[in-house]
Amino acid sequence: MWFPVAGSEQVKAGEVYAAQVGDQELVLFRNGGGDICVLEDRCPHRRVPLSLGKVIDGQLRCAYHGWTFDGKDGHCVAIPNLDDAEHIPASLCATAFRTAEFAGFIYVAVAGEGAGDEEFPCYPPAGFHYEKIDSGCAVVSVSSQEYLAAMLDGPHILLAIRGINISDFYIGDVTREGGCLSVDRTAIWTLKAKPHEKLWGLSTLALRTQVCPDQSVVRLQLLDAGEEILLAAVIAVVPGKRGTSQLHWRCYYSPNYLRSAPRGVRLRAARGAPFDVFAAVNGQRLADLMAGPSVELTVSGSTEADSAPAERIVLSDVSEVETSPTTEENL
Ligand code: FES
Repeated sequence: MWFPVAGSEQVKAGEVYAAQVGDQELVLFRNGGGDICVLEDRCPHRRVPLSLGKVIDGQLRCAYHGWTFDGKDGHCVAIPNLDDAEHIPASLCATAFRTAEFAGFIYVAVAGEGAGDEEFPCYPPAGFHYEKIDSGCAVVSVSSQEYLAAMLDGPHILLAIRGINISDFYIGDVTREGGCLSVDRTAIWTLKAKPHEKLWGLSTLALRTQVCPDQSVVRLQLLDAGEEILLAAVIAVVPGKRGTSQLHWRCYYSPNYLRSAPRGVRLRAARGAPFDVFAAVNGQRLADLMAGPSVELTVSGSTEADSAPAERIVLSDVSEVETSPTTEENL
């Protein structure tokens, strides 16, 4: 299984990026060819975080004693002050993880049978023509399981679409496709002069929220009356430490996104990104949220315990190369 851990734009050439999946600390960087590399964020020499180091010529140099590691297999390729007669043991390496980059997201493979053979979960809807993309990231003080459940029960407390009010009640039934749950909500263009509460009956929009707990991904679509997609977004919800979640999202806008919007909304839409995922979750609003579609997360073979990503996620190493975290300390 591929697990999204960062957005592509967060890992810049020549820079390191620290990430976590559950308790597993990672360091991400790009090698000389621009390919993404993911190592355990721990130097095999004295366990200093490698994310404190520097990328030199596409390889990662530890900040403490300057050991340098290749990103693809984790091998140590340079140790300062080594005599000509001394050689770096082949077993000396940082733990490297299988990784891939696709459609603006960076993934690591979760260990297990067929690890990494599945499709990548974050992408725009098939056949959707979009003209613009926004992206962002945040860390919220809500566990990934609670965040996914809240997305089903009340996405309006977690995100905003400029000029759109999203109702707190859903329409129709919750549908299940594979391991994903999907639910539609009424949405409406809103102007201050016309309070949206009085206009729900005239609503011509719907927000479709699909939550895939196995992949820890949320997909959203803003639909018009003809079910044409005006906007689509995907949010990777990565379990972090101490009950937090890291969010990495991308939003894709149709050229027709504002076609049905009131003139005032169209004028305001030019100011800033229309789509935003809140970097802080209001605890009171979260506590007040009534359980709705999320109860389906706990029925018929998809219990919260086994469908949501476990807090302890084991990632797939790039090879069978044996690591030696404590050896050669005298080098
Ligand atoms: S701790 Fe990294 S090189 Fe010594």
